[in-house]
Amino acid sequence: MAITLYSTHCRSLATSSSSFQLCPLSSNLAYHQRVTFSQRFLASKVSLKSQPQSYQIPVHTQQQEGSVAASVPPVENGTSHKQLNAELFSVKSPQESRVEDGCEKDENESTVSITVVGASGDLAKKKIFPALFALYYEGCLPKYFTIFGYARSKMTDAELRNMVSKTLTCRIDKRENCNEKMDQFLKRCFYHSGQYDSQENFAVLDKKLKEHEGGKTSNRLFYLSIPPNIFIDAVKCASLSASSGNGWTRVIVEKPFGRDSESSAALTKSLKQYLTEDQIFRIDHYLGKELVENLSVLRFSNLIFEPLWSRQYIRNVQLIFSEDFGTEGRGGYFDHYGIIRDIMQNHLLQILALFAMETPVSLDAEDIRNEKVKVLRSMRPLQLEDVVVGQYKSHTRGGVTYPAYVDDKTVPLGSFTPTFAAAALFINNARWDGVPFLMKAGKALHNKRAEIRVQFRHVPGNLYNRNFGTDLDRATNELVIRVQPDEAIYLKINNKVPGLGMKLDRSNLNLHYAARYSKEIPDAYERLLLDAIEGERRLFIRSDELDAAWSLFTPVLKELEEKKIVPEYYPYGSRGPVGAHYLAARYNVRWGDLGTDVEH
Ligand code: NDP
Ligand code: BG6
Repeated sequence: MAITLYSTHCRSLATSSSSFQLCPLSSNLAYHQRVTFSQRFLASKVSLKSQPQSYQIPVHTQQQEGSVAASVPPVENGTSHKQLNAELFSVKSPQESRVEDGCEKDENESTVSITVVGASGDLAKKKIFPALFALYYEGCLPKYFTIFGYARSKMTDAELRNMVSKTLTCRIDKRENCNEKMDQFLKRCFYHSGQYDSQENFAVLDKKLKEHEGGKTSNRLFYLSIPPNIFIDAVKCASLSASSGNGWTRVIVEKPFGRDSESSAALTKSLKQYLTEDQIFRIDHYLGKELVENLSVLRFSNLIFEPLWSRQYIRNVQLIFSEDFGTEGRGGYFDHYGIIRDIMQNHLLQILALFAMETPVSLDAEDIRNEKVKVLRSMRPLQLEDVVVGQYKSHTRGGVTYPAYVDDKTVPLGSFTPTFAAAALFINNARWDGVPFLMKAGKALHNKRAEIRVQFRHVPGNLYNRNFGTDLDRATNELVIRVQPDEAIYLKINNKVPGLGMKLDRSNLNLHYAARYSKEIPDAYERLLLDAIEGERRLFIRSDELDAAWSLFTPVLKELEEKKIVPEYYPYGSRGPVGAHYLAARYNVRWGDLGTDVEH
């Protein structure tokens, strides 16, 4: 059965599948009339679903590590238990139904205008407009909203709509009315051509926005989807000429937030000339990924994990990112940053902070971010000897020649910019003292994957040690959170092979999302855009987190550059430099993704 948490004061009572309490209906209705985001988050995102009562033993068909086709019936956002729910919660307001859907439409008379600055660019086309359409399609955008594209390119509204329409897709599970919905959505998209440093051009945008807002309270969201060197110009002009006069004004800032401590601090200082910290939404789209969002649920709502979440039981933690393509098309940007700044300092470090933080006081943004920043500040300064860098070189396979990083015309010949890095990090606090947190990120590797691997310690005095031979490390439990692709959470356990003998086997307790949930997983940008519209900052980076993240990486980045450390070259499509294995071995760690039990 699905238990939906109806209000904050019911929360603690509703954490078990067998005991729950409903708040009185009258208070529910009053509550829903003034629902805010954090309540949406509590109510819909912390909606606990117990397993179906009659669980069949799944028939496993091994697909890839941790993924099985199970006979467990899929849950569609909790609706497979709809009937039971209907009996239990027989009176539901429309608001309540929407809360279960994961988004809360603001029914008041204010408007939200979303301006995509840099609308002609790659990110806008690939991610932002499709995410906005998905939100519209799901009924998550407010009743009165307008979308404006802003860039220097000359375009009419019709041309923008045509451009945007090419990248919109419909949800697989709800194809009906898709074209109609697309048309309706596109009718609410407009374009204004202007310079990023022209207050006059933004003033004209302001005039157009006002016409659409029709005198209602206006709330304005600007998404800076432009190169970082023009962030400040655009923020200045948007803030001075196109801020809302009577509602909120928020600005989403894309990464990179500087390239070291100094430039990041300078960027923050400049932004704060025009915006307050509350108005700045620094996006790290990995925080919007389903399994990253689920990390806290896994830890804090399951009794079995949190007690094990420390140096006492965890041997090491691995944060792995790999892509099976190079920097094709983005070499110019990439060469200025490199893989450590592009992936480790933000995406992987954010996951680490969420993984390792202490229990926050509440699910409020500030409480969560306070705990994350404590982790970042407790980290041991990263040493050069704990970092391995690599760069991909050309490789021919099956008659196809894959380019080297430096073959990209926008990359200077002889560039030492790393396209691969591995690092060993440590958190100097009571919970994690001595536990290696190994990070590995690379482009042009053999697969595309992002995962968290938690390797547990040996079982003390294990009665079955002799069944494992000499390699006891292989017998330890490993929890794998596969962020993408093919989302899954699985736990490797030792199990007796059925039969009269005593043969042990490594098996997976597996939560394979595609088998368990029929609903398509939303793109990270959808979640983050919705949060920004609703003023929820939990998944955005606060300036002190950013400072702490840069403090950790800046010294080593400078050393790598000053000493002109030559990267270890690895063939395009390979598993990366061998140096990553030596680094792990120094801390008695074996990379979990390269274990013998991985299906390739
Ligand atoms: P683009 O390079 O496509 O730039 C976006 C738009 O900005 C362009 O269409 C162009 O519009 C304008 N622009 C580009 N260069 C300049 C310049 N030198 N001076 C003034 N205007 C310029 O960027 P993306 O869309 O790829 O990325 C946008 C932001 O998002 C960047 O900060 C990027 O780092 C970040 N990002 C991008 C990701 C991606 O997958 N693309 C992933 C994660 C972050 P016009 O000429 O019409 O004004
Ligand atoms: C971006 C990086 O932040 O994340 C890119 O700049 C990288 O280099 C991308 O390709 C990966 O995102 P995702 O969501 O495709 O894993």
